[in-house]
Amino acid sequence: MPSSLSTLGTLITLFSAFATSIPLVPRFVSPDEILAEYDYVVIGGGTSGLAVANRLSEDSSKTVLVIESGPMDDGSDSFKIPYLGRGYLNFGTKYDWNVTTVPTESLGNRTIIMPQARVLGGTSSINGMQFARGAASDYDAWEELGNEGWNFKSLDKYFKKSENFTAPSEKLAEEFGITYDKSAHGYTGYIHSSFPRFLWPLLKNWIGSLKSLGHTVSQDPASGGALQLFWSPNSLNPDMQTRSFAREYYDGAQDRANFHVLVDTTVTKLVTSRGDKVKVDAVEFSRSAGTSEKRVKVKKEAVLAAGSIFSPQILQVSGIGPASLLKSLGIEVVVDLPGVGANLQGHVYIPVIYQMANVSLAAANLTTNATFYNEMYELYKAKQDGPFTNGGPNVVAMLPLSDITPDSPETFQTPSESLSHLEPSISKGYQSQLKILLNRLRTKHMAATELLWLSEGGIIISTMHPLSRGSIKTTSPALLSKIPAISTNYLSHPLDTKIAIETLKYTRKITATAEMQELGLVEVLPGASANTNEQIEKAIKDGSGWMYHMVGTCAMMPRDLGGVVDVELRVYGTRNLRVVDASVQPLIPAAHVQATVYAIAEKAADMIKAGSLWREYYNSMP
Ligand SMILES: Cc1cc2nc3c(=O)[nH]c(=O)nc-3n(C[C@H](O)[C@H](O)[C@H](O)COP(=O)(O)OP(=O)(O)OC[C@H]3O[C@@H](n4cnc5c(N)ncnc54)[C@H](O)[C@@H]3O)c2cc1C
Ligand SMILES: *[C@@H]1O[C@H](CO)[C@@H](O)[C@H](O)[C@H]1NC(C)=O
Ligand SMILES: *[C@@H]1O[C@H](CO)[C@@H](O)[C@H](O)[C@H]1NC(C)=O
Ligand SMILES: *[C@@H]1O[C@H](CO)[C@@H](O)[C@H](O)[C@H]1NC(C)=O
Ligand SMILES: *[C@@H]1O[C@H](CO)[C@@H](O)[C@H](O)[C@H]1NC(C)=O
Ligand SMILES: *[C@@H]1O[C@H](CO)[C@@H](O)[C@H](O)[C@H]1NC(C)=O
Ligand SMILES: *[C@@H]1O[C@H](CO)[C@@H](O)[C@H](O)[C@H]1NC(C)=O
Repeated sequence: MPSSLSTLGTLITLFSAFATSIPLVPRFVSPDEILAEYDYVVIGGGTSGLAVANRLSEDSSKTVLVIESGPMDDGSDSFKIPYLGRGYLNFGTKYDWNVTTVPTESLGNRTIIMPQARVLGGTSSINGMQFARGAASDYDAWEELGNEGWNFKSLDKYFKKSENFTAPSEKLAEEFGITYDKSAHGYTGYIHSSFPRFLWPLLKNWIGSLKSLGHTVSQDPASGGALQLFWSPNSLNPDMQTRSFAREYYDGAQDRANFHVLVDTTVTKLVTSRGDKVKVDAVEFSRSAGTSEKRVKVKKEAVLAAGSIFSPQILQVSGIGPASLLKSLGIEVVVDLPGVGANLQGHVYIPVIYQMANVSLAAANLTTNATFYNEMYELYKAKQDGPFTNGGPNVVAMLPLSDITPDSPETFQTPSESLSHLEPSISKGYQSQLKILLNRLRTKHMAATELLWLSEGGIIISTMHPLSRGSIKTTSPALLSKIPAISTNYLSHPLDTKIAIETLKYTRKITATAEMQELGLVEVLPGASANTNEQIEKAIKDGSGWMYHMVGTCAMMPRDLGGVVDVELRVYGTRNLRVVDASVQPLIPAAHVQATVYAIAEKAADMIKAGSLWREYYNSMP
């Protein structure tokens, strides 16, 4: 597989080598050079889009065009080096859509910045590199919701197909007690999963502490048992200790003559025609705001992969969405689909911050000591070792509700009257979700909360199966004119708040253990003044952020439950349009979601290929 580091330079060389316009050469194309028509037009060259486009272009008889709004990344340290990448140096740059939520009433009307990558490779280029699957129960819940064939067992094959796992060195595994199950992983995929060469020693205190409270270390989260305490790999190239991301699907396909990529180009609309079902005839795009729009024809299918914010917006501006919203903006209704943009779910991010009086080496050394920083940077450059290899927390505590509170989840159910403002199918779907989640949250098989130890001196709490739901709504009929209105509504459901409060209290049990006390910990945020439930709730609502794991806005669910796509990821009411990105996940798993995004994309590509074969067979019948 070509290296992830094939630079812009190589691409430019490639480009000029093929610049004489033979119709089908692999390269970046310009709008003037693209073919009039492609078998598949993939909208969004991000995490899912590049994975699907790579697989579809494996069949050399099919032409594939990817349209990506952002540029190619510049190969700089901020993308490649784990420690810097997770410092999110690309937030607010030209590689970011610069998205902010609307004021969130449940959080005292705060607005929250929501980074979303705008670059070939998408959000996998700027994310925290945490790479893990959810527990089996999380995916089995999708099937229970009416999505036949979507469960952990059926996805396992695709988790493996996308992954190339490398076990940690024996030395590291022994020193830290890292466990893994080789048979649970894939070895031929494009995305490397591995452990950084350097782990912060304070992880030992964290593991010791949780063990002393009775939590066990699960052997490997990949096996479907991502619960309790476990070691999570990163999306990390083990040899170079650099980020592994969706760009590698691009690198792997760039020599194929049938694979074209159009960067710096934003899709503005799907051009449809009506028949028995709506058909996407062409995709309309624009180089930059103000320039005239162009079109490319779709021969077989349009594949939406613009992510959880922009896929629903593209559908809405194209007339596929809630009729009431579309009419209010003067958009002609092509398919009335209330679920488009509804059902937004994500993980809340609640930081608890400590001062540490007794540590000899912690992440703070990098920020407070320039000499140390420079030494460690040189070490990374010379030997790909040391703290710069480390992109984020590799030890995850994923706890079921019963581990943090004796109260049953039903105690906190929202009275059903509060759903009366919802469109009937959305309300019905939400109630189905609620029932499934409440049943599963009562068991030991579904996690309610995640705790991550940061070696800076902090614990990040995150509610894993939120019952709060937000939405994405376009505020303009023209895609380029405004970012859609993003309402997270998070912590608006009382159970989510309850879980957050109980988890925060639980962090105090953890920090009271001898293992953590050894660090000389003092909680500074929210700190000693947050003691009663009310005080803790206020501190949480004032201080929380967003894990940036957004799913659900084009949910795969039955149509009468407010679903947007069916089990083959086809948009209801259409015949040649699928959504393949994070937005199709109907319920968010208890995991940072990229591994799931890749698995779905791999499965989607197989389904698209199979559909195409079937149609060809059918068409060839006399
Ligand atoms: C800051 C941050 C940290 C994260 N950390 C982690 C982590 O540690 N582990 C983890 O598992 N997950 C993490 N995630 C989540 C994970 O990275 C995303 O869920 C996943 O990458 C989403 O993939 P996607 O294909 O749905 O969308 P994306 O990868 O965002 O791809 C969408 C692409 O479509 C393009 N696009 C959008 N609109 C248009 C248009 N109109 N025309 C053309 N192109 C368009 C975008 O520019 C983008 O490239 C993180 C997310 C963020 C934001
Ligand atoms: C985000 O803001 C930065 C800095 O202001 C800018 O360079 C970049 O182009 C913006 N991105 C988008 C998509 O508007
Ligand atoms: C939030 O905004 C809404 C609408 O403007 C307002 O009714 C409400 O009182 C505000 N809440 C807070 C806590 O400021
Ligand atoms: C998987 O990763 C290892 C380690 O980098 C590499 O040697 C191997 O070639 C990769 N396998 C594939 C199929 O790319
Ligand atoms: C890290 O910082 C601590 C606290 O300031 C200090 O005692 C220790 O010597 C530092 N370690 C290194 C390697 O610089
Ligand atoms: C800063 O780092 C250097 C190099 O590792 C070390 O020698 C020095 O003791 C550190 N200073 C402090 C205050 O920790
Ligand atoms: C400080 O940490 C060391 C181990 O790093 C430990 O031996 C010592 O007991 C700790 N001191 C206190 C006061 O806890």
